[in-house]
Amino acid sequence: MRTVIPVGVQAMAERGAQWAAWVDGLPRLVSQIVGEWRLTPDGEATHGHCSLVLPVRDTSGRPTVLKLGFPDDESAHEHLALQHWHGDGAAQLVRADPARRALLLERLGTDDLTGLWDVEACGIAGGLMLTLHRPAVPRLRRLSAYVGREADILGRLPRDSPIPHRLVEQATTLVHALTADEGSSSVILHGDLHYGNVLAGERWPWLAIDPKPLAGDRNFEPAPLLWNRWDELAGDVRGGLLRRFDAVVDAGGLDEDRARGWVVVRAVINARWTLDGARGALNPEQRDRVTRFVTIAKAVQR
Ligand SMILES: Nc1ncnc2c1ncn2[C@@H]1O[C@H](COP(=O)(O)OP(=O)(O)O)[C@@H](O)[C@H]1O
Ligand SMILES: [Mg+2]
Repeated sequence: MRTVIPVGVQAMAERGAQWAAWVDGLPRLVSQIVGEWRLTPDGEATHGHCSLVLPVRDTSGRPTVLKLGFPDDESAHEHLALQHWHGDGAAQLVRADPARRALLLERLGTDDLTGLWDVEACGIAGGLMLTLHRPAVPRLRRLSAYVGREADILGRLPRDSPIPHRLVEQATTLVHALTADEGSSSVILHGDLHYGNVLAGERWPWLAIDPKPLAGDRNFEPAPLLWNRWDELAGDVRGGLLRRFDAVVDAGGLDEDRARGWVVVRAVINARWTLDGARGALNPEQRDRVTRFVTIAKAVQR
């Protein structure tokens, strides 16, 4: 069987040697798994930011998709989260081979939350959190360990870095405060619940896909709803961000103060990643990204 690898997936090879090797091996991997799992291709391949997604039918004729993801740490436990949710609030997992980052998933619709009014979409995402945030399962990466490492790196940033020093200090202090009592409130987090990762379904109107799961505080979740669909905020960025924040906090039954703190932490961590990618002077796009994350961190503090 020959699969046409979408141009967007081929382009991922430019991200580095590991990506190039992954893209290179995809045609063989697809044909292996399609053969082993006795799948029938059923439409054109699509992709996300770091995956190839192929519509297929399984042996029962059920419409499913085969997702082959780039093997990064963040997505290593995607199958555990989906298994645990068992279709409640998220796409059903039909079969998985975590070592090859292959998932066979219930096929959902083509619409995602990008097509809705952003504030309404934030309400829907918040509602899904009520279902997804179940007591954590063993083996998941811990939020406290992950942000602890990031806080250490933030602590070593020079004072004259493009991220205001006051915000860097605030973020490291917040990490310690927000993770101090994690053990008592540890749930399974989606980790990347943005508009494009919620698809229309039939069993449920909306279902999550693509978790980057962590075990930790549920108030960690809102940030991706703030930094995605950024251009739509033009004209009233602060007001728009606060409307989104309030909608997700309300619908998700979140603790407003802790949610605000986590937005600050995640915005500063993302700004720091941007500096990492730059290794030297920032280009205009990287400067814009840093400005965006700083704006978010300030806006939620009203
Ligand atoms: N269960 C599914 N049903 C239908 N389409 C899907 C499904 N899972 C993923 N897709 C499609 O593939 C795209 C990429 O999948 P996603 O899991 O978000 O991977 P990535 O990590 O690359 O973003 C989605 O945006 C969606 O268009
Ligand atoms: Mg995605």
